[in-house]
Amino acid sequence: MKLVITGANGMLAQAVQNYCKSAGDFVVALTRFEMDISDEKSVSAKLAEVRPDAVINCAAFTDVDGAETNIRACFAANVDGVANLARACRSVNAAFVTVSTDYVFDGEKQDFYTQRDTPNPLGVYARSKREGEILAFAVNPRSIIVRSGWIYGLGGTNFLSAVPRLLADGEPVRAIGDSFGTPTFAYDLAARLRELAEADLPGVYHATNGGPGCSYLEFARAVCHLGQFDLERIEPASYKDLRRPAPRPVSSKLTCLVSEKLGFPPMRHWESALADYMGQK
Ligand SMILES: NC(=O)c1ccc[n+]([C@@H]2O[C@H](COP(=O)([O-])OP(=O)(O)OC[C@H]3O[C@@H](n4cnc5c(N)ncnc54)[C@H](OP(=O)(O)O)[C@@H]3O)[C@@H](O)[C@H]2O)c1
Repeated sequence: MKLVITGANGMLAQAVQNYCKSAGDFVVALTRFEMDISDEKSVSAKLAEVRPDAVINCAAFTDVDGAETNIRACFAANVDGVANLARACRSVNAAFVTVSTDYVFDGEKQDFYTQRDTPNPLGVYARSKREGEILAFAVNPRSIIVRSGWIYGLGGTNFLSAVPRLLADGEPVRAIGDSFGTPTFAYDLAARLRELAEADLPGVYHATNGGPGCSYLEFARAVCHLGQFDLERIEPASYKDLRRPAPRPVSSKLTCLVSEKLGFPPMRHWESALADYMGQK
């Protein structure tokens, strides 16, 4: 396939580039400098020039707390940007895959969220991602929305990505025990994104590693176990201790109702994926 990947310097985009190149694709990975997705003219000109088979949109405004005070920039990337790409994909007859988030849900559900659950985003970032989903379908019914959550990987700076390095360096780690999600290794998500681009079946998908999900505390303990690090370095914390500017869902575990029914292989257990990530670092 000839693929355009947006937000090329981001954590997920790097995994998608690596995975798709290894699968034999012709990859055109574009940084924000090369194609700002919020710039409609730049998006339509670039896609008309490249004429890809599919676009995998990994670009987004991802500073969840910063979004609370930078609403305009957040919506420019996560709403206008998604709409610009959806429209340009329609014009050049390309499949359109865009990544969304578990944060479209409010976290009140104890069990896994499926596509049957009604989104109820809590903060500015979450609202922008939900609006991006809605607009993508409004502009281009061929859109493929892929919600994921708790993504970590090489080049990542978030908590999940950083924990193995911090613990290996002997640093203390504060980890929340009362917030739950489904950890997802970026490389595994990249494989699923490519499968979905190739299948070209419009709809909303959930894509996370398998297993029962976990809390941040359980994730950090699994890192300790796999790396044989000192468990004493982990300091249990509570969600309310962190006092972050943006509200977040307390539990946002995802499962997909359709992927396996369509014949996609189940994504492996998160602990197996974590072991691979730690082996690569
Ligand atoms: N990380 C998670 O746990 C998580 C969970 C659920 C969903 N997601 C979603 O997964 C996707 C990838 O996230 P990530 O963790 O890889 O984020 P990331 O590392 O922050 O990468 C996002 C990339 O998008 C670029 N970007 C921002 N605005 C842009 C614009 N207007 N035009 C072009 N590029 C732009 C950024 O460029 P700059 O570096 O120049 O800002 C950055 O390189 C996003 O859609 C995110 O919402 C992430």
